Amino acid sequence: MDEYQQFKEEGKSEIGNMSNDSDFRKLTIDWMNAANSKKYSYHFEWLGRPIIQYPQDMIAMQEIIWSVKPDLIIETGVARGGSLIFYASLLELLETTGVSVGGRIIGIDNDIRAHNRTAIETHPLFRRIDLVEGSSVDATTKDQVSEKVGDAKNLLVILDSFHTHEHVLMELEMYHSFVSHNSYLIVFDTVIEFLSDDMFQDRPWGVGNNPMTALNEFLETNGDFEIDKEIYEKLQISVAPNGYLKCSRN
Ligand SMILES: C[S@@+](CC[C@H](N)C(=O)[O-])C[C@H]1O[C@@H](n2cnc3c(N)ncnc32)[C@H](O)[C@@H]1O
Repeated sequence: MDEYQQFKEEGKSEIGNMSNDSDFRKLTIDWMNAANSKKYSYHFEWLGRPIIQYPQDMIAMQEIIWSVKPDLIIETGVARGGSLIFYASLLELLETTGVSVGGRIIGIDNDIRAHNRTAIETHPLFRRIDLVEGSSVDATTKDQVSEKVGDAKNLLVILDSFHTHEHVLMELEMYHSFVSHNSYLIVFDTVIEFLSDDMFQDRPWGVGNNPMTALNEFLETNGDFEIDKEIYEKLQISVAPNGYLKCSRN
């Protein structure tokens, strides 16, 4: 076993110990409940655009994008565009390091505010981005996305729009077929299931009605996707517990 493999083996065992530590898990959930009430995830930017993510999940996405090397990413939920710019910058790096060419991302949102559209469209990385305005679960939106897929061969899908069970389940059913073999279908905000319901009084989602309940229903009938458990086990602080699904379909 070489030094790198040995390092990874040690890491596996450390991650296993961490994920079996219920006190540590409780500490994390308590911290996330407190952080959520302070709108923690709204305070970061990537290359000048606000990104509504936890930095931990961004690191996980970097690891996934490096290992999958997608030529197309589809993301539902654009907001201020920070995640589009983040993924576009990683696609740019894949190209400058010579591992892939021409990677693109399609961002779907039913409400792309004019100021956000202008900031995204004038960003230097916009050349890698396609915006589709419409509800992610409308057939016409999916048709527009299908047209833009073109001859892309290695696709990754990220769901981060409206977080009710019904909506996310529809997105899962509509977009899972785009995901390539050994690539990922990522469902953000599954953590809602673990947080205090008081947090979501002004939202149509909450405990029992959220991306995690949708994902669990989806997995009952879709054996081509499996939760990559190690990602959440090592992140601990994540908005996507069990939300990183790996595709085994050829
Ligand atoms: C959590 S934010 C997305 C955050 C973004 N991915 C990021 O990391 O910065 C959710 C977005 O989903 C959009 N949204 C809500 N309902 C939608 C729908 N039916 N179809 C598409 N997008 C929707 C909202 O307009 C909002 O911009």
